[in-house]
Amino acid sequence: MNTPTLAAAIRDAMLTAEPTDKVMKTRDVVRRWRAGELAFVFDVAMPDVPGRPARPELLPPAEMPKRGRGSERGRIALLHALAHIEFVAIDLALDAAGRFGAEMGRQFVDDWLSVAADEAMHFALIARRLRTLGSFYGAMPAHDGLWDAARETAHDVAARLAVVPMVLEARALDVTPATVDRFMAAGDERSARILQRIVDDEIRHVRFGTTHFAALCEKRSESPASYWKVLVERHFRGMVKPPFNDSARRSAGLSREMMAGVACQ
Ligand SMILES: [Fe+2]
Ligand SMILES: [Fe+2]
Repeated sequence: MNTPTLAAAIRDAMLTAEPTDKVMKTRDVVRRWRAGELAFVFDVAMPDVPGRPARPELLPPAEMPKRGRGSERGRIALLHALAHIEFVAIDLALDAAGRFGAEMGRQFVDDWLSVAADEAMHFALIARRLRTLGSFYGAMPAHDGLWDAARETAHDVAARLAVVPMVLEARALDVTPATVDRFMAAGDERSARILQRIVDDEIRHVRFGTTHFAALCEKRSESPASYWKVLVERHFRGMVKPPFNDSARRSAGLSREMMAGVACQ
């Protein structure tokens, strides 16, 4: 029998809709890749849109119900929103490995599949926490549009890195510490610990982004700071807004000089 290909295994995990199944398939792809059971062959294309479960209902950002800030309901809604972000992050990481792996090589695949495994873990931790709190992933509507960044940058790995790890995932470094404090203040230490663990992992994800981006810049004879600025202006519709978590960003390879270029004034 022929060895199954990496691309086919990744595509299969991406097309899986049920959250528990997607988590299991993602772990399985990572395990098989590490065990040398998947051929470094890119024989199928990545899907334009990954598999999504019937619930949560996906709504445009403007139609999302407001979350009450102080209440327990508000905190559950926040965890639900984070679960959805992690769920989409699984597919973003798989897509990076499957779409750009041929061009970028084995180290890139190693890195992005390890991110996919982390995101699957993050999702599973939050989903379990939601259940303990009497809710579940799918109980509330979720933000449609997290996949837009993937679509917008599907043509070029530099654009993908510039926007997904280096802008979107890096944003988590700025905002999560305050969220951790909020859960602690509410006496929910379990949730706070899960979020702290997530932010520690996200530093690594951003670092993979900045490292591979720097290597690409070298290859394309571009300067990282100015190339990043150009790509963010072209492919990211939001704003890169301070305050930044300078120390976390620095450990992730985003220096103040890099930030100065893309930050809105
Ligand atoms: Fe994550
Ligand atoms: Fe991440």
